[in-house]
Amino acid sequence: MIGAGACGLTAVKALTDARLSVQCFEKSDRVGGNWVFKNKNGLSSAYRSLHINTSRERMQFRDFPMPKHYPDYPKHDLIARYFQDYADAFGLARQIRFETTVERAVPRAEGGFRLTLSHHAHDSPGSPCSSSTVEDFDALVVANGHHWDPAWPEPAIAGEFSGLEMHSHAYLDPDEPHALRGKRVLVVGMGNSAMDIASELGHPGVAEQVFLAARRGAWVLPKYAFGKPIDQGTVIPSFVPARVRRALAELWFRLAVGRLEDFGLPKPDHHLDQAHPTLSSDILTKLGSGDVRAKPALIERDGERVRFADGSVETVDAIIYATGYKVTFPFFGTDVVAPRANDLPLFLRIFPLDREDLSFVGLAQPVGAIMPLAEAQAKLIAELLTGTYELPNGAERKRRTERERAEMFARYVPSRRHTMQLDYEEYLASLAAETRAGRARARHRAARAGSPGAERRP
Ligand SMILES: Cc1cc2nc3c(=O)[nH]c(=O)nc-3n(C[C@H](O)[C@H](O)[C@H](O)COP(=O)(O)OP(=O)(O)OC[C@H]3O[C@@H](n4cnc5c(N)ncnc54)[C@H](O)[C@@H]3O)c2cc1C
Ligand SMILES: NC(=O)c1ccc[n+]([C@@H]2O[C@H](COP(=O)([O-])OP(=O)(O)OC[C@H]3O[C@@H](n4cnc5c(N)ncnc54)[C@H](OP(=O)(O)O)[C@@H]3O)[C@@H](O)[C@H]2O)c1
Repeated sequence: MIGAGACGLTAVKALTDARLSVQCFEKSDRVGGNWVFKNKNGLSSAYRSLHINTSRERMQFRDFPMPKHYPDYPKHDLIARYFQDYADAFGLARQIRFETTVERAVPRAEGGFRLTLSHHAHDSPGSPCSSSTVEDFDALVVANGHHWDPAWPEPAIAGEFSGLEMHSHAYLDPDEPHALRGKRVLVVGMGNSAMDIASELGHPGVAEQVFLAARRGAWVLPKYAFGKPIDQGTVIPSFVPARVRRALAELWFRLAVGRLEDFGLPKPDHHLDQAHPTLSSDILTKLGSGDVRAKPALIERDGERVRFADGSVETVDAIIYATGYKVTFPFFGTDVVAPRANDLPLFLRIFPLDREDLSFVGLAQPVGAIMPLAEAQAKLIAELLTGTYELPNGAERKRRTERERAEMFARYVPSRRHTMQLDYEEYLASLAAETRAGRARARHRAARAGSPGAERRP
């Protein structure tokens, strides 16, 4: 296993529960990945004020509820503590080798992978490593996260800027790593990083002026609806057809939130359910107060000046690109796994189409939290590795993956951030159905072979 963030942890648990021999390698000195503020691994994108935007009940693992005294949307330190508690409760650290980076993962001719590992005890990742070893494994589970490698605008915005340019990945607070108080700051993007950072800098007395550049409108959802976290259930029953649900949701948005154009934002060019949700209960107030000013797409940089698609020009001290992340696997050669523009086709968003000794956990972008989905994915991987679940044949995996991808690309706005979108409830239901089907395949195969496994029931 590579990585002991939220998704890796639940996989360590599922595989250990299935009595598999598991070894997880973790670059950091602790579990929790992205949720460890200033994580020693240098990969965390958490800022000091970060709170989850998927509510506690949506995000918690099904077999380890978050403490009842946690608020609906806890801050990063409580979330990091929760993952540490999860690891402690199930003794997962025994399976994790910390301060160990997987540098290379090379397929072996006989199946499985050869890993080259570097060990960083007493120094930090990135510094010359103290030792390097090679170890072989029959199967590899990858949970290295996909929100740590900054994606900058491609192609770069025209011109050159003489002020400070940074990516949201590096942002910690208005003072760190760069002094932004009293400055004029442009934030680029309409995702959740852009909302949080623009709102924080736009708080009275922080930045002098914040601009928010949107190349596309987004339905900015509040964190609460009807007095409850917005992701906790819906008043629209599930038997209502999707198109009607969409229309009702948009009607609700119009009544409860209003028209985004009235806040200076572009009108979304898509329906509410056609983009990864952008949530903020702060940004519209900041826009309405003038502390944040909405701008269309940034098209040119010229010294201290920035030009926008409507021809307007502003002078700014800093640009923060909240333009998302790249999906990267530095340990794989391009002949093994090579995502193209963040796109990596996987059966059930878990299994590569051409091999059974490799799987991915948490490599998805759900409408809803990733943790319970990763928990379900990990259980299925454990069943595959113990033989109680059997994958469909290669042609069937390819056919279904192509169909699901076609549906996803048809539904979502074309964007590098919409290459692995999942709908929370639908996905959990489809995993459950596929688990039942794959167990039946495994039983039939065992029965045909007349092996003792024919009697085995999961
Ligand atoms: C600012 C921000 C806020 C977010 N908020 C939410 C939210 O509210 N709800 C939600 O569901 N999701 C949220 N996400 C998505 C986020 O990706 C998940 O919450 C979660 O962190 C994913 O867990 P993970 O284990 O897949 O990845 P990570 O948390 O990134 O963990 C990956 C782990 O793998 C290790 N690793 C990486 N490469 C190697 C290697 N080569 N060798 C050894 N170890 C390695 C890392 O050290 C790390 O510990 C947010 C993302 C960001 C950036
Ligand atoms: N509070 C929280 O819990 C929280 C906070 C931050 C992030 N997150 C999560 O972390 C993940 C990453 O979020 P993110 O906001 O960092 O990234 P993101 O969701 O990928 O959003 C990137 C934004 O930048 C825009 N963009 C990309 N390239 C651009 C370019 N060249 N020029 C102009 N705009 C460009 C995108 O527009 P298009 O749509 O047009 O591509 C999009 O609006 C998401 O899962 C998010 O939910 C959660």
